[in-house]
Amino acid sequence: MNENTIQSQSIWDEQSGLQNFTTPNRAELLEELNINKSSKILDLGCGYGRTLKMLWKLGYKNILGIDYSDGMLNIAKESIPNISFYNCKIPKELPDIRNLDVVFFLTVANSIISDLDLNKIFEFVNNNMNNNGVFIFDDYVLSEDNNYKNRYLLGLNEFNNYGLFRSNGNEVFKHRPKVIFDSLFKEFFTIEKCTINEEKSMNNRKTSLIHYILRKK
Ligand SMILES: C[S@@+](CC[C@H](N)C(=O)[O-])C[C@H]1O[C@@H](n2cnc3c(N)ncnc32)[C@H](O)[C@@H]1O
Repeated sequence: MNENTIQSQSIWDEQSGLQNFTTPNRAELLEELNINKSSKILDLGCGYGRTLKMLWKLGYKNILGIDYSDGMLNIAKESIPNISFYNCKIPKELPDIRNLDVVFFLTVANSIISDLDLNKIFEFVNNNMNNNGVFIFDDYVLSEDNNYKNRYLLGLNEFNNYGLFRSNGNEVFKHRPKVIFDSLFKEFFTIEKCTINEEKSMNNRKTSLIHYILRKK
């Protein structure tokens, strides 16, 4: 089965308005990192805009969002009307956005099935960042939980790829081990911080969320 065809974009339109993502939105990190209020900030896979909304409230006004779900973007545009949003399917469509100081990429990687695509996204981020740029990345790591392990085994059977699994809604997601993220980042970023914490997934399941603060190489 072609890895590029198994994930359906429509799930996010269906979920928009229903979902209230519960993982940390990470906006307040920028104050901890002393990021200047005029910095140019991109939220890649911004969903309904919860991180952007919080950034706006904190005084960061030079902010942009990218997502491929019209449903998510419509909600985001309503809640933060004064900023630019791009409807793009990454990495197939990458807008001409340069001189970024900070990029957020929060719980989107599990929707990017191919490691090669993830690599292209990291390359895009790196190429369009100013020196010293910060990349803030969160995603679910491969779980030791039996419920997930059973799903991974079913996924292994169907896709010949451990970590690829179907959600309750039958959509396909990918959980990766930390070592994969580390090796993909190595080419483009240095790791300033990495933590793993228990969180709830959007289906309210117990999962491990990996969080990185990365710096452009
Ligand atoms: C779990 S949500 C997270 C949203 C946001 N980052 C947050 O933390 O609130 C994942 C988002 O990534 C978007 N997404 C997934 N794959 C994408 C792709 N290939 N291109 C653009 N957006 C994508 C979905 O539409 C969805 O809004």
